[in-house]
Parts: sequence; C-alpha cells; structure tokens
Amino acid sequence: MNDALHDLPPGIAQAQAAELVAESIVVQFQGLMAISDVSLKVERHEIFGLIGPNGAGKTTLVNCLTGFQRPSTGRVLLAGEDTTGWRPDKFRKQGIARTFQAGRLFRDMTVAENVEVTALGLGMSRRAAHEHAMAMLAWVGLADKADAVAGTLPYTDERRVGIARAMVMSPAFVLLDEPAAGMSDAECDDLMHTIVAIPKEFTCGVLLIEHNMGVIMGVCDRIHVLDGGRTIAQGLPAEIRSDANVISAYLGMEG
Ligand SMILES: Nc1ncnc2c1ncn2[C@@H]1O[C@H](COP(=O)(O)OP(=O)(O)OP(=O)(O)O)[C@@H](O)[C@H]1O
Ligand SMILES: [Mg+2]
Repeated sequence: MNDALHDLPPGIAQAQAAELVAESIVVQFQGLMAISDVSLKVERHEIFGLIGPNGAGKTTLVNCLTGFQRPSTGRVLLAGEDTTGWRPDKFRKQGIARTFQAGRLFRDMTVAENVEVTALGLGMSRRAAHEHAMAMLAWVGLADKADAVAGTLPYTDERRVGIARAMVMSPAFVLLDEPAAGMSDAECDDLMHTIVAIPKEFTCGVLLIEHNMGVIMGVCDRIHVLDGGRTIAQGLPAEIRSDANVISAYLGMEG
C-alpha cells in the first residue's frame, strides 16, 4: 500500500460504490444489434476481463457503463442505484473512470497538465491537483516526463498518461479499453504489473478489455466473453480457456 496515492486533498472523498452492474443491456444502432441482453457485475476488489473478437460490442458496453452510450433497453446500476439518464460527468463524479481505445490526450498540453485537468474538474485546488497528478505520474512510471508536451510522447507512454488521468480521480472502478494495444510483449508485461496493482493500491475494481488471451488469462479474476453482441461465456480464467464457444469464437485469431 502506497500512502502517497491515498493522501487525497481535503474535500475530495474516495467514491464508495461497491459494485457496477449491467442489467440486460441492449444497444441497437439503426438495424444493427451491437449488444443483445448482456448482464454482468464488476466488484470493487477484482480485475474483470471483457473479451471478444473485433466488433463483439466491448467498447459499446463500456460506453454504456460510463454514460457515453444510452442503452436501448436495460439498466446500469452503481451500488444498486439506477444510473439511467446520468451523463458521463456524473459517472465520473460517482467514481467511474475510463480510458479510451484512442488516447484522447490534449496534445498541446504537458503530460502533468493532462492529468491535472481531470483533478481540477473534480474540484481540487490547483496545488492539490498538481501534487496529486505528480503522484499518479510517478506511479505509472512517467515522473520524468511530466513536463513533456503530450503530443510528443510515444504511443505506449500515452496509454500510461491515460491511466494516470483515470486514477487521479481515486475512482471506485476503472474501465480500461485495450490499454496494451500496440505494445511490445515487454511493454505489455510492464503495464500489466501496473494494472494488477490497482485493486489493492486504490481499492478500485478494474474492467479490462484486452485481445491477448495469454495476458487476460494471467491477470483477470473473472472473464466475460462477448461475440456478436451476445454473452457466449463467463467464469474463471480456467473455465474460459477450455470453453468450446470461446475457442470457436477465437479460432483463427491471434493470442
Ligand atoms: N456509433 C455507432 N454507430 C453504429 N454502429 C456502431 C457504433 N459504435 C459501434 N458500432 C458497431 O457496433 C458493433 C460493436 O462495436 P464495438 O466498437 O463495441 O466493438 P468492440 O468489441 O469494441 O470491437 P474492437 O475489438 O474492434 O474494439 C460493431 O459492429 C460496430 O461497427
Ligand atoms: Mg473496442
């Protein structure tokens, strides 16, 4: 446990929600059924893997769980509370953080400023936001790049800034959309060490989208598998690994 990460500025409370639930979610885009009746529950102490082939509906589901996409039917519940009608900002304030498949950094701002703006948006003072941002950057291994312009960073560092920016909120849950995409095996291993520490260091549940099955099997407590918008399997890594539907969905895919 790293105390520096827990020294939240006065007035900033850590979100308390214990579980994030998707209940019978359906998302329809015009004629396309992107999500068909998917239910899942992420708990505060775990790393929950969300996997499936391209176009399976993973990002759409994360969008629903963070207020970026309204389900056609079904509900998202946070600590039992119905979030219907909440905007992304309200999800953030209630302790739901996310990263995006594409970096979405402010490219002209420094790395530190990119993290600070999130903290400022939650009501921290400038000084507190700066100090907390620096602690997060140190935690993701980017302390020495705090003053670099974000647009000049290599792709792999951009991913880490995205995670620092999510964790600066002291969220109850963080949803990571393919944080290791495009990384070498060594960079991916390194990032996974950081991610695996999140539940203990921050008392924060993690939903992790990742295509590499070896990585997912190694770091997740439980795994949920989508294919074509439907749940095809859910369970422990060992159960998923030997599941006939999962093997068939992944046949011919890397990993
Ligand atoms: N805004 C949108 N409008 C129309 N169709 C969409 C929209 N967003 C996603 N889709 C479609 O919904 C389906 C699910 O897409 P989604 O991005 O959720 O998949 P994914 O599992 O995240 O895929 P990937 O692994 O490629 O990131 C796909 O067929 C996609 O083309
Ligand atoms: Mg996606």
